[in-house]
Amino acid sequence: EKDLESKLPLKGKKIMVTAGPTYEAIDPVRFIGNHASGKMGFDIALKAAEKGAEVVLITGPTHLCLKHTNVEIVSVVSADEMYEACFANYDAVDAVIAAAAVADYKPKKMATHKIKKSEDTFSIELEKNKDILLSLGQNKKSQFLIGFALETENEIENAKAKILKKKLDYIVLNSLNDKGAGFGTPTNKVTFIDKEFNCFEQELKSKELVAEDIVNLIVKKYEV
Ligand code: CTP
Ligand code: CA
Repeated sequence: EKDLESKLPLKGKKIMVTAGPTYEAIDPVRFIGNHASGKMGFDIALKAAEKGAEVVLITGPTHLCLKHTNVEIVSVVSADEMYEACFANYDAVDAVIAAAAVADYKPKKMATHKIKKSEDTFSIELEKNKDILLSLGQNKKSQFLIGFALETENEIENAKAKILKKKLDYIVLNSLNDKGAGFGTPTNKVTFIDKEFNCFEQELKSKELVAEDIVNLIVKKYEV
């Protein structure tokens, strides 16, 4: 029995993970998106499932796939859809890891027909998307919230501000300044910051190992 506990420390816990980019439609054939692959979130979902958690993985468009009996995948396209899917599951979960690269803005209006080219310049009016993690923080009951921060300047200060604003328990600060970190690389250089602003700088590691470290923050939280 003790053995099972140490292998499946998240048994009985339900964890929601967001992953991937979001696509914001301009017209029926075009969108605004970003280069997020979804790999970080998918690796986290798999690690959490392997440690016994029941996982709901809410993902934007990605080519990745994941088959594990403990992982339910909810595919969404836009930030608005991700927001709805997150709140549909929020009350039932013990922890959230928000690894999605949600588009900050969307076209104010989606054109119903494919836009034809005419003038030499063309602009699209954008409006802010809902901040999903901010809303989760504002509506949190006892959920343990882990967010990400992608910063290129004043990294630690900006990340701490996000912890307070979004009522997070931890933030995973992604350093884009380091070689071998970030989009399209198999490795990441991260720093964990807790809500008391303690910083834990990590070595450059594979995304799988970073995923395991992140899931272990939840394991530690529920350990007696
Ligand atoms: N996030 C979210 N919904 C958004 C924007 C961001 O849930 N509309 C989440 C991300 O998944 C991430 C965290 O908030 O866990 C921080 O995202 P980031 O882009 O670093 O910060 P923003 O709050 O969007 O601020 P800015 O981009 O201006 O730095
Ligand atoms: Ca952002």
